Amino acid sequence: AYNERESLYIVLNYAKDFFAQNLSKEEGRAIGLSYFKERGFNQDVIEKFDLGYALDGWSHLHEAAKSAGHSDEILLKAGLILQKEGDPKRMYDRFRGRVIFTIHNLGGKPIAFGARILTQDKKQPKYINSPETEVYHKSDVLYGIFQAKKSIREKDNCYLVEGYTDVISMHLSGIENVVASSGTSLTENQIKLIKRFSDNITVLYDGDAAGIKASLRGIDMILEGGLNVKAVVFPNGEDPDSYARKVGSQEFQDYLEKNAQDFISFKIGLHANEAANDPIKQANLIKDVVQSLSKIPDPIIRTVYIKKSAALLELDEEIIQTELNKIYLKGK
Ligand code: CTP
Ligand code: MN
Ligand code: MN
Ligand code: MN
Ligand code: MN
Repeated sequence: AYNERESLYIVLNYAKDFFAQNLSKEEGRAIGLSYFKERGFNQDVIEKFDLGYALDGWSHLHEAAKSAGHSDEILLKAGLILQKEGDPKRMYDRFRGRVIFTIHNLGGKPIAFGARILTQDKKQPKYINSPETEVYHKSDVLYGIFQAKKSIREKDNCYLVEGYTDVISMHLSGIENVVASSGTSLTENQIKLIKRFSDNITVLYDGDAAGIKASLRGIDMILEGGLNVKAVVFPNGEDPDSYARKVGSQEFQDYLEKNAQDFISFKIGLHANEAANDPIKQANLIKDVVQSLSKIPDPIIRTVYIKKSAALLELDEEIIQTELNKIYLKGK
C-alpha cells in the first residue's frame, strides 16, 4: 500500500497526463492548443512544461480518475476536485474549461496546477490555482525551478519573473535560468531554494506599479538572504513574455544585458526625476538606499555597496555609515 504522499504524487501525475492528453482531443485542440499556438508556444515547451487543457464540464477529470482507481478522498486532498458544502455527494472538478500550467517540484514531480481562463471575462479570476496540500506548500515552490536548475548553475544567475507565461516565453527566447514567484511576494524559502544553485538573482517583474512595488520588496528580501540582486525595468505595461514576443529573442537578450541594474541604481532610477530638484525627496531616496544597505548581512559586501552608494549619490561614505548605525541601534 502507498502512503498518502505517494498517492498524492500518483494522482497528480495522472491529472497531468489527463490534461496533456486533452490537448489532442477535439475540444482541447480547438480551444487549448490553439490558445497556446496563438501565444507562440510550440510542441517543445508544451511537453517540457507539461501544459494541458481542462475540459469544460463538471466531472471530466473526476470520472476518468475514478475509473482509473483513484479515490474521491485522494482527489479531494490533491485539490483536483471540490465538494459542495452541505451535500457530501456533490463533487466537481476544480479546473474547468481552462488551459493548464503544471507546477513541478525540484525533482520534476507534478505537485499543483495553475489554470488560465481563455476569455476576458472580468467576473472570473484570470488564474485558478491548486490549494495548499500535503505536497504543495506554495511559499516553498518556484514555478519552473525543475526546468531551470541546471541552467541557473551554469549561468550562475537566476532570473526571477512574476508569471507562468514569462518563464515559458523566456525559454522560447533561449533563456532557461528563469523561475516565477507566481504573483505572490517572494519568501525566504524561495530565496534559499535559488541559493542552492546560485548567489545571483535578477528580478524581472512586470513594468507596472505593482511590479515595481514587488521588485522593491523582493530586492530587500534577496539582500537579507545574502544574495546579490539586480533588477531590470520593462517599458510600462510590458512583462517579460509580452516584451520578448514584441522585440524577438536577440533584442530581448540584449535588453536584459543592457538594463540589468544593481539595486542602488534601480532605486536611483525610480526616484531620479522627482528627486533631482527636491532636497526632501533626495533625502528620502538616500534613506531608502540606506534601508536596503542595512539588509546586507555580510560586512564586506555591505562596505562595497556603501562605497558604490556614496559615489552614485554623491555623498561621503561616513554619512551613509552614520545613517546605517542609526538603523542598527534602533534594531537593538
Ligand atoms: N496570478 C494568480 N492569480 C491571478 C492572477 C495572477 O495566481 N488571478 C499569478 C499567476 O501565477 C500569474 C502571475 O500571478 O502568472 C502574474 O500575473 P499576471 O501578470 O496578471 O499574469 P501573466 O502571467 O502575465 O499572464 P498573462 O500573460 O496570461 O495575462
Ligand atoms: Mn507538509
Ligand atoms: Mn502583473
Ligand atoms: Mn504579467
Ligand atoms: Mn503576461
